[in-house]
Amino acid sequence: MCGIIGYVGDRDAAFILVQGLKRLEYRGYDSAGVATFHDGRIAIRRALGKLSNLENLLREDPISGSVGIGHTRWATHGRPSEQNAHPHRAGRIVVIHNGIIENYLELRAALQSRGRRFSSETDTEVISHLVDECVQDGLDLVAASRKAIAQLQGSFSIVVMHEDCPDRLVAAKSATPIVIGLGDSENFVASDIPAILDHTRKVLFLEDGEMAEISRHEVKVTTFAGEPVVREARTVAWDPVTAQKGGYRHFLLKEIHEQPQAIIDTMRGRLLQEKADVSLDELAAAPWLVNAQRIVLVACGTAWHACLVGKYFLEQITRIPAEVDYGSEFRYRNPVVEPGTVLIVVSQSGETADTLAAVEAARERGAKVLAICNVVDSSIARRADAVVYTHAGPEISVASTKAFTTQLTVFYLLGLYLARRRQLIDHDAAHALITDLVNLPKRIEECLERERAIEKIAKKYGDAKSFLYLGRGINYPIALEGALKLKEISYIHAEGYAAGEMKHGPIALINESLPVVVLLPKDGVYGKTLSNMKEVESRGGRIIVITDAPSPELEDIAWEVIQIPTSNPSLLPLLLTIPLQLLAYYIAVYRGSDVDMPRNLAKSVTVE
Ligand code: M6R
Repeated sequence: MCGIIGYVGDRDAAFILVQGLKRLEYRGYDSAGVATFHDGRIAIRRALGKLSNLENLLREDPISGSVGIGHTRWATHGRPSEQNAHPHRAGRIVVIHNGIIENYLELRAALQSRGRRFSSETDTEVISHLVDECVQDGLDLVAASRKAIAQLQGSFSIVVMHEDCPDRLVAAKSATPIVIGLGDSENFVASDIPAILDHTRKVLFLEDGEMAEISRHEVKVTTFAGEPVVREARTVAWDPVTAQKGGYRHFLLKEIHEQPQAIIDTMRGRLLQEKADVSLDELAAAPWLVNAQRIVLVACGTAWHACLVGKYFLEQITRIPAEVDYGSEFRYRNPVVEPGTVLIVVSQSGETADTLAAVEAARERGAKVLAICNVVDSSIARRADAVVYTHAGPEISVASTKAFTTQLTVFYLLGLYLARRRQLIDHDAAHALITDLVNLPKRIEECLERERAIEKIAKKYGDAKSFLYLGRGINYPIALEGALKLKEISYIHAEGYAAGEMKHGPIALINESLPVVVLLPKDGVYGKTLSNMKEVESRGGRIIVITDAPSPELEDIAWEVIQIPTSNPSLLPLLLTIPLQLLAYYIAVYRGSDVDMPRNLAKSVTVE
C-alpha cells in the first residue's frame, strides 16, 4: 500500500518527509518521492526502489523548503518506475495519492481531448490535471480540489500542493485513511500514524467525504460539499512499533483483520451487478482464455491451495477440465501441453522460483499463461501473457492470509467472467452469485467476530502434539490450508485430509489426544462429512467443528462448535478459512512462537 506524508512548518521539510516515509516502509513500496516549495517553485525528487535511493538523490540534488509532501508507491496502475512514482505534477499543481481511481481511463481520455499531456501511466496523474484545470479557471486551491474530487470515483486519499499557495496543503479522504498531526506552529498529514509519531501524538482523523486545509497554525476541515466540520483532536498512546501494526500485536493478526477490505479492493470496479457480469479489462486481449480447452493451475504453498479451490470452482462453472500441480513438480515432469492448454499461475509475491520456472516451461511448450499475482510488475507478472492482480496490499507476515482469500476472490471473478462468455450461466444465476460476492466482506466481518471464542479454544488445545483437518469437495483444500497455517506458525504437526479418505489410513491416528478440525458446511456432501465426523467421535477424537449449520446433534458429537455465517456453497471455502487462520494464530501466540517470522521460512522463496 502506498504511504503519504505532508508537512507545513518551519523545519527542513525534505528531511521530515523522508523520516516519515521510513516509518511507513513496513507497508511495502517500489518507489518514493518528495516535493517541497524551493526557491518559489515546487521542486520534486523521485526515485525507483528503496528510500535510500531517494536519500542519495536528495544529497546530490537537495531541495530546501519548510512545506512539502512525500509518498511511497505500491504500484497498482503502471509499472514501478521513476516516472510513475509520486508526486505528480500538472501545471502549478502537485499531487500524491493512495488508493484507486476507478474512472481514470474516462477522465484521462477527456483530459487528453482537452489538450492535456500525460507523463505517467498512473491513475493519480488525472487528479493533478483536474485540479490544475480548475485552478486555471480561477478557483483557489480548496475550491479547485473540491471540484476535481467531485469527478473521481473509487477509493482515494490525496494531498495537493499549489505553486501559488506556498504556506498550505489540502488533504482529502474517501475510503483510504488520512490522519492529521497537530504540532506547535507546525502541522502534519499522513496516511498512517507511524509517519508522524516522532513529532506529535495529537491527531485528528478525517472521515470519508472530508477534506482539510492545513497551514502552520490552522487546520480547517470541511465536507466535500463545503460544510464546516468540527472535530476534536485525539491523543494516541501507541509506541512506534505498535503503530506500524495498526495497534495489533502482530502483522499476521492485522492482515487477518484486513481481509474484508482487501476483498473489497480485489472486487473494486470488477463487478457489474446490473449486467450480472464481471469486468476484467486485463483479459480483453486474451481470447485464448475464453476458448481454453484445458487449464493447468500451478503454484506453491498456500497459493497452491488457492489453485485447488480454483480447480473445483472453474470446472463447476465453466466446464473446462482443470488440473493442479506444484511449480516444483510441473517444471520437471515434461508436462503435456496441447493446443488450447492454458496455464494459470498463482503467486502473492510473483517471485517464487518454482512457479516462475513453471511459467517458462509452459511457454516453451507453446501454452498461454495467465498470472494471478499480488505484486505488480513482479517477475511472474512480467513473464505471463495476462495478469489479474489481487490488489490485497502488501502482506508482511510470512504466513499468507489475505493473499489467499483475495486469490480465491479472483477465481470467483474469473469463473463468472468465463462462464458468462461461454454462455454457461444465465443472468439470474450470475446475479445471485454476484450479490453473494458483494456481501462477502460483511460475512467475513461476522467470521472475525468469533475471535474471542476461537482464542479460548486455542488455549484449550494448544498443547496438542498433532492436529488433523478434514474437509470435502471444494473445502478439502481449506483443510490443507488450515493444517499448513498451523504447522507454519505454531510448529505443531498437522495434516489436512479429504474427509472421505480418512478411513484409508489416517483413521489409525485418532485417539483421545488428537484434535480433529472438521469443516462441515451445509452443502451437497454435508451428510457424508457428518458420517466421517461420527467415525472420529467413536474413536475418541476431540472434534472441533466449523459449520454454517449448527444443531443440537452437532453439539453432542463435537467438543467445540464454531459457527460461521452461511453463503453460496461456492463461497464457503473463503468463510471457513477465517476461523482456521485465527485458530492457528492464537495457538502460535499461546505457544510463544515468532508469529510473523516463523523459523526456517522466507516470505518469498526465490530459490529452488
Ligand atoms: O509468493 P507466493 O504466493 O508464490 O508464495 C508461495 C508460497 O511460498 C507461500 O504461499 C507459502 O506457502 C506461505 N508461507 C504460506 O503461508
